[in-house]
Amino acid sequence: MIGAGYVGLVSGACLAELGHTVTCVDKDSKKIAALRGGETPIFEPGLAELIARNVAAARLCFTTDITEGAKDAAAVFIAVGTPSRATDGLADLSYVYAAAREIARVIDGYTLIVTKSTVPVGTGDEIARIVADIRPEANVSVVSNPEFLREGAAIDDFMKPDRIVVGTSDAKARTVMEELYAPLTAQGAPLLFTERRGAEVIKYAANAFLATKITFINEIADLCEQAGADVQEVAHGIGLDHRIGPKFLQPGPGYGGSCFPKDLLALLKAGLDFGVPIRSIETIISINDQRKRAMARKIIAACGGSIRGRTIGVLGLTFKADTDDMRESPAVPIITALQDAGAKVRAYDPEGMEQASAMLDDVEFAPDAYDCAKGASALVILTEWNQFRTLDLERLKDLLAKPLIVDLRNILRPMDMAEHGFTYVSIGRPTVTKAQAG
Ligand SMILES: NC(=O)c1ccc[n+]([C@@H]2O[C@H](COP(=O)([O-])OP(=O)(O)OC[C@H]3O[C@@H](n4cnc5c(N)ncnc54)[C@H](O)[C@@H]3O)[C@@H](O)[C@H]2O)c1
Repeated sequence: MIGAGYVGLVSGACLAELGHTVTCVDKDSKKIAALRGGETPIFEPGLAELIARNVAAARLCFTTDITEGAKDAAAVFIAVGTPSRATDGLADLSYVYAAAREIARVIDGYTLIVTKSTVPVGTGDEIARIVADIRPEANVSVVSNPEFLREGAAIDDFMKPDRIVVGTSDAKARTVMEELYAPLTAQGAPLLFTERRGAEVIKYAANAFLATKITFINEIADLCEQAGADVQEVAHGIGLDHRIGPKFLQPGPGYGGSCFPKDLLALLKAGLDFGVPIRSIETIISINDQRKRAMARKIIAACGGSIRGRTIGVLGLTFKADTDDMRESPAVPIITALQDAGAKVRAYDPEGMEQASAMLDDVEFAPDAYDCAKGASALVILTEWNQFRTLDLERLKDLLAKPLIVDLRNILRPMDMAEHGFTYVSIGRPTVTKAQAG
């Protein structure tokens, strides 16, 4: 497994759990030293235990040496990053191609090179070309096997996938992939074989569709807010339609994370390269970008129009709950906009503060949610961590300078908030007054 990041580490540990012998290779020597020392470099529920169990069983090990990892492997997975290229927004494939070159130099005997990284259509062809240039005699099959795991639920997603997609037209490669995933298919996981290019498109199209669903409900939430309807009722009402489904219909501050923003941009750019402008994706990207600043304006409006010189408490920094991943988190542009408007920001996140401190200037980090609220003019919920659903509301009210909560994840109940005497602003839901709450 080349690359021991969120995907490589989870996939490597899960494949070991399925009974395979896995070596995770990463260039980051600190990460490998930490893993060898029994530390888990990322926060992902259940991952530390999974790694420990498989290391103890001698099925999983870590190295910086590609030869040790790939030389005798039946399959070498590429799970390195594919960030947006700063110059043009296309997927930066330099890590993938570097990994392919390194693999080509060390493999021995028939080897599968399996792309787990999310890559634009046609990348598998380029990997095959790179390998053939370096080792014309090498006996390899280049396979696409995109990963659909979600951070925060990554192990469950890998072990009980909705589907496993494998792109190859090579019968021998197909057999190896069937064997690799046999423990999962035996439990009913669908294994879908496609052409390599089809598998590459499936991954981008799936992410784009999910981002579209989020963006759609966000716009419907804005309509509900103006029209006096409740978006939670609307989302429930449309989600019961099997053609739509209930998931990804939770309104919020805009999608973020390490995948959707870069993958939508890469799909858009790839489309243009093929002479196919995908206008819907272009619009989704633009709506989502504007939403983050709009959320800051919503907070400022809730505070009466000015936050200059005031302290705003922020609960949640990561792009979603149950991860420490801060990549493209909406919290960053929202907090920056609050600072631009003259506020002092104090923030708390259960897992993301270390990563956040490298991305945000002049934010005071609090040790818990209550400290975060102390003397603040408003408390803003940006990430849906479970612990924020059960806060002691009376205690919070005593600590805040003003009893104002802006909940950009709709995790609290308007009626409860009114009963406790809060001014409560959420997304796409009518305000409940204390009189209505009784
Ligand atoms: N994070 C997710 O939720 C998720 C889900 C599905 C797919 N993906 C895709 O998986 C890929 C990896 O994402 P990630 O979030 O795990 O990235 P990451 O940045 O967490 O990890 C990438 C790792 O690869 C290592 N690396 C880079 N070049 C290397 C090389 N030549 N040899 C060895 N190690 C090398 C880096 O040091 C890093 O540790 C991306 O294409 C991403 O789009 C991510």
